[in-house]
Amino acid sequence: MSFRYLGNKTRLAHWIVGTISSVLPKGCSIADPMCGTASVSLALARTGYSVTAADALCFPVVHARTRLLANEPPAFKAVGGYEKALEWMRSALPVEGYFFREFGEAGQPANGRPPRRYFSANNAAHIDGIRAAIRELSADGALTEIEHSVLLHHLILATNKVANISGTYGYFRRAISGPALKPLTFEALTFEKSSGRHVVLQGNVEELASKLNSDAVYLDPPYTKRQYAGNYHVLETIAREDEPVAAGDGGLRPWTDQASNFCYRRNAGKAFRETLERLQVPHVFISYSEDGQVEEQELLSILADFGGVTVHEQPHIRYRSNGGGKDGPVLERLYHVNMA
Ligand SMILES: C[S@@+](CC[C@H](N)C(=O)[O-])C[C@H]1O[C@@H](n2cnc3c(N)ncnc32)[C@H](O)[C@@H]1O
Repeated sequence: MSFRYLGNKTRLAHWIVGTISSVLPKGCSIADPMCGTASVSLALARTGYSVTAADALCFPVVHARTRLLANEPPAFKAVGGYEKALEWMRSALPVEGYFFREFGEAGQPANGRPPRRYFSANNAAHIDGIRAAIRELSADGALTEIEHSVLLHHLILATNKVANISGTYGYFRRAISGPALKPLTFEALTFEKSSGRHVVLQGNVEELASKLNSDAVYLDPPYTKRQYAGNYHVLETIAREDEPVAAGDGGLRPWTDQASNFCYRRNAGKAFRETLERLQVPHVFISYSEDGQVEEQELLSILADFGGVTVHEQPHIRYRSNGGGKDGPVLERLYHVNMA
């Protein structure tokens, strides 16, 4: 499965959940309110916790609904079953619609800018065709909420695999090449049963914090200035099923109302403090990179105002934007705040 996502903790989930397990007995409840791909949520659920997953953006909510709430292949009665639903996506008729126009190599963006080469013409039209078909089924009331999320989840994964980008959707590559020339693919997911009771929400952690009635909260905020809303605008548009104005050369949807305070150096410390002030849980775990905008000493001094702090460290592969930045592994830190 292709999750191409900044700060994705798939490879660190074992270590993170192992550390949480040394403090929090299985069977307890934990919230992951900045869940991204839901990789940590899923690892927590597999370990036996009840998980509340949330995110400020809509597409992580689609991932979390699918990965946490779909315990078995959905029935997809309208199309004859899960395998048939995948076949139905593979064979959806192409449409020269919004994606074709705004994000396809042969498109003509509404603002008159040159074609945006995020996708080959065929893939852009196939994405439009699937979006139209999902909208139609949904309008007919033929999809359950989970089925709807599973289809969008598949479309996002398939889109990620063929996107003509270098890492994020901040911009597209000059020439369509490599994986972008391949067609969209839809592979069956493995659905897993877990013992806990799971919930998926959407919203800013600053707003949700006071409502998270769990035994613990795991926070995984952005640690660089790269805003997720702008860098993943194409996925947000798939999840929202809308056709927003695509601005400028890059075709970004309006995103500033979804900007994260954790991405602004001047606001990040305040965002940590405000979130912690609102949380009413005994344990808070926070992932933050050594390369984060908030320096280690500043973060420790904020966290110490809320309780005893233990720091766990793990070397990890460093994300290098456009080949720049420091070399070698980076230290990923997991802070445990035993809330006073
Ligand atoms: C580092 S990523 C999380 C990665 C995730 N743990 C995973 O394994 O995929 C940070 C996430 O925080 C979300 N986010 C940023 N600011 C937020 C806020 N104020 N409230 C809720 N979510 C926020 C972003 O949309 C992004 O999905």
